[in-house]
Amino acid sequence: MSIVIAVDGPAASGKGTLAKKLAAHFGFHHLDTGALYRLVALGVVEAGADPADEPAALKAALAVDPARSGDPAIRTKDIGRIASQVSVYPTVRAALFDFQRSFSAREPGAVLDGRDIGTVICPEAAAKLFVDARPEVRAHRRWLELKDQGPSEVEILIDVKARDERDRSRAAAPLKPAPDAYLLDTSDLDIEPAFAAALEAVRPAIEEKLKALPKG
Ligand code: C5P
Repeated sequence: MSIVIAVDGPAASGKGTLAKKLAAHFGFHHLDTGALYRLVALGVVEAGADPADEPAALKAALAVDPARSGDPAIRTKDIGRIASQVSVYPTVRAALFDFQRSFSAREPGAVLDGRDIGTVICPEAAAKLFVDARPEVRAHRRWLELKDQGPSEVEILIDVKARDERDRSRAAAPLKPAPDAYLLDTSDLDIEPAFAAALEAVRPAIEEKLKALPKG
């Protein structure tokens, strides 16, 4: 039985970095589920389709190749925005469900980060974190990543707020903490102290599960 850590939170909250570090710490696999929605967005753009066209978004979702998750083309502001537009469709979410579920079953464990891991994809996860930070702090972090592409910090703040609003208010799998998630605000924390807090929050549950694993 695999051990799952669910890490959810809004854009640029630090959840991806924390998820990666937790996976490395425990020797678990890591899945950035946002990359899957970004690949759907890229598929829609490459097909010359409109993000408002649900059948086109579904077609792109069914054709997603997770091996392309490292493609820099998905790391732009526009693809982030289109990802949040296509992710409102329940059909798109359903098309990506099985891949995420099978990934979460990888031995000895998996860390998945996204918006609905603790609530929809892996409600039975051994440990759940909901990572957040003030919008201005998140926009600044995203600007540091994207500044070579030209957008101003204010443009990014507007975009981050619009994306949060869309992710939180959608009917299908909205962004919200699972009732049993540990809430971690990284606004005033650098990476290392944030990781120490995340590790402290998940460690008891994960160590208990690791102890229960058959030896050998
Ligand atoms: O995390 P990232 O910013 O890469 O995600 C891009 C978009 O994909 C999010 O704004 C959200 O709309 C969508 N997403 C989602 N469910 C997930 C992960 C991402 O709806 N589990």
